Amino acid sequence: MLHTYAQLGIENSLLGFVPTMGALHQGHLHLINTALAQCDWVVCSVFVNPSQFNDPADYENYPRTKDQDLDALSAFDKVLAYFPEKDELYPPHLPKLLDYNDPALFGILEGSYRPGHFQGVVTVVIRLLKQVAPNKAFFGLKDYQQYLVIKKAASLLLPMVQILGVETVRSVDGLALSSRNQRLGEKALHTALNIGKALRHIAFQKHKIPLDQAIAQAAWMLEQTGFETDYLCVCLGNNLLEVTEWPDNAELIALCAAKIDGVRLIDNLLF
Ligand code: PAF
Repeated sequence: MLHTYAQLGIENSLLGFVPTMGALHQGHLHLINTALAQCDWVVCSVFVNPSQFNDPADYENYPRTKDQDLDALSAFDKVLAYFPEKDELYPPHLPKLLDYNDPALFGILEGSYRPGHFQGVVTVVIRLLKQVAPNKAFFGLKDYQQYLVIKKAASLLLPMVQILGVETVRSVDGLALSSRNQRLGEKALHTALNIGKALRHIAFQKHKIPLDQAIAQAAWMLEQTGFETDYLCVCLGNNLLEVTEWPDNAELIALCAAKIDGVRLIDNLLF
């Protein structure tokens, strides 16, 4: 359990929060540094949340690296590590899932491939936000749909917390950093670069060729390199409504989820 902020003498500090599922990498460290730049203290939680996994094998195989995560967090000044136990977030007296629904966002893209996923995410994030009581909470934009879901849920349920999105950190060759990358062999890691290439191809073709053609070319590129694609599409950046023709003057986002060697990767590009 967290010490009270008064016990730590930081009750009047501006508090940032970075929730994670551990296996911390440079992307998480960037979230923490972004939070530290805007806040006095930062709480970083590590909890592999069972209710957001629709596939039990995925939950079992999710990397758990508590000792390394603790080492990484203790290298920071002014970062409090929080490793909640399951009972703290799912106590017997509370319903398993929060009674909150957002059909427009829960049912599309990630939500349609991972039924129940966002219900689990919102449940754990709202409970963590209530426990940690931060001024600001920081989420990676690699999980763009998750960011929009949480921003909307928090604006309705906990409007005093500011939800902020932080840009995706990439390897030098462009691969979005993810804890799941740890499960890729050397060859698959190299092949995974094609997701970013496919997204950049779509953005580059804006207004040059029809949108469906740009997507078809990018999808072919993924198929040729051994990917099994769940979705590859272009949506409006503010609400994830899919577009089928290039609009004028709208922020767009190309999104992709695809599997390579049994590992499901997601990425996106705002343009
Ligand atoms: O993005 C994640 O790592 C998780 O979905 C989160 C926000 C920590 C909730 O479990």
